[in-house]
Amino acid sequence: MWGPHVVWEDPLVLLGCGVSRGISSSHAVRNRPIRSSASAGPAAMSPAAVWCAQHRLRFLLPALFLAPVLYFLLSPPSSPPFFSLPSSGEMPPSGSRVIWAQRRLAEWRPCGWWRTAPMPAPTTRNGYIRIDCYGGLNQLRRDLCDGIGVARLLNATMVLPKFEVAAYWNESSGFADVFDVDYFIEQTRGYVEVVKDLPVEIASKEPFKVDCSKRKGHFDYVETVLPALLEHQYISLTPAMNQRRDRNPSYAKASYCQGCYSALRLNRNVESKAVELLQAIPKPFLSLHLRFEPDMVAFSRCAYTSLSSKSLDSIEAARGEGRKVLTGDAAHLWRNRGKCPLTPSETAFILQALRIPTNTNIYLAAGDGLMELEGFTSVYKNIYTKSSLLTHEDFEKMHGNTKAALDYYVSVNSDAYIATFFGNMDKMVTAMRTMQGLQKTLVLSRRAFANYTASGLAGEQLAKAMWDAHREEYIRGRGSALPEHCFCEFKL
Ligand SMILES: *[C@@H]1O[C@H](CO)[C@@H](O)[C@H](O)[C@H]1NC(C)=O
Ligand SMILES: *[C@@H]1O[C@H](CO)[C@@H](O)[C@H](O)[C@H]1NC(C)=O
Ligand SMILES: *[C@@H]1O[C@H](CO)[C@@H](O)[C@H](O)[C@H]1NC(C)=O
Repeated sequence: MWGPHVVWEDPLVLLGCGVSRGISSSHAVRNRPIRSSASAGPAAMSPAAVWCAQHRLRFLLPALFLAPVLYFLLSPPSSPPFFSLPSSGEMPPSGSRVIWAQRRLAEWRPCGWWRTAPMPAPTTRNGYIRIDCYGGLNQLRRDLCDGIGVARLLNATMVLPKFEVAAYWNESSGFADVFDVDYFIEQTRGYVEVVKDLPVEIASKEPFKVDCSKRKGHFDYVETVLPALLEHQYISLTPAMNQRRDRNPSYAKASYCQGCYSALRLNRNVESKAVELLQAIPKPFLSLHLRFEPDMVAFSRCAYTSLSSKSLDSIEAARGEGRKVLTGDAAHLWRNRGKCPLTPSETAFILQALRIPTNTNIYLAAGDGLMELEGFTSVYKNIYTKSSLLTHEDFEKMHGNTKAALDYYVSVNSDAYIATFFGNMDKMVTAMRTMQGLQKTLVLSRRAFANYTASGLAGEQLAKAMWDAHREEYIRGRGSALPEHCFCEFKL
């Protein structure tokens, strides 16, 4: 449903070549033995080997062509060329099985009640509402999702949401610049009415602004917002954070789920660019959301030793008032609560602990502001980014939101997705992958890493501990814990 989807004949075939594809609906496959790249190696003329051989060849040419570019962009002068074949020493020990091959006990799926339940149409029309959304793409979308639920709760007609893009992106892009407006209107038909234009009698008015920012958990929209809607007939609001959506009537909850996860897709322009990018990435591949960027590190208030002075300067530059680095006990506690972003080299360490082969194709879903990237690219060398795969001209024309949309799209359609943080993008990608049954999705545990390093573990011991922690999360379906009521745990 979410755009074109690259599908291979037999998902198992892929397992011979590294990361394997999520198994969307073929439940029959689940109990078949799954083997990792290391153990599947000698299958001389198996379909897997043939597939690998053919596809390696197909990607070899573009890879050779791109190699110098990527090498220039991603490698520090001292590291070996990225296109060198990994030596056998870099492969996981024989007999080891990549994290995805662990048999799961439970997984998350979209709950049946909202996918199939008939959705009652509003009995009244109480006025028009505009949802004002702020921040980066996935935060905008989160607000919009809440707004769809609110509109249904109030039996309000929605006008297209307003996207107030983060000032640092220096752009003015609206909902229609990223999402498919007609699709949204069509998909929400029956439970929320969405219009492009207001009726003439109110079109000239600015909406009455209702402030929800101070409201907390038990905020009741019907009690607090409905009177303003009825009085002014056209209001705007930004949904309150941390609201208790579970207390809403089920038709409002179902509208939230349907609107958020079934009614939004990228518009044709953005999607075709995203498809182009997806096609350019060698398959199978892992999308990795590294989030070691100056703003994030500054925001985290965590101290890091052994960063380059260049990185330290960028972090300082991004540090606003009141974002001083924590020190002493406070810093330890904070780190042990999993609040500190993983560095690229910590990420590479954990990925190896999860037995993800170092020759895996990895798409870096992140902006160009990543710091200390050598710590990752010196271990994982088959790295792709949107700026390396799209032409310069294409790229210059894009703004922050459409670039973020590309990362989103590629991550939702990748064979595997790993997040190093659990931010808005990770939540949205995790949810959309769950919608499609793509189970190879994991959020790395910053808490476990901090915990074990603080207690003195290092090297092999630390790798073992990280493996155990993530394996436990993965098999219990917890590694991608979904935040809302739209998803249900399913025992396998
Ligand atoms: C909205 O419509 C539903 C029926 O779908 C009705 O039960 C509810 O009371 C209405 N709420 C408001 C605030 O008008
Ligand atoms: C923001 O964009 C405007 C025009 O689109 C440009 O003139 C200006 O230099 C940009 N500012 C920054 C900080 O990039
Ligand atoms: C952190 O370490 C303590 C012991 O030092 C342990 O009891 C706890 O389970 C650990 N937590 C995690 C998330 O690893």
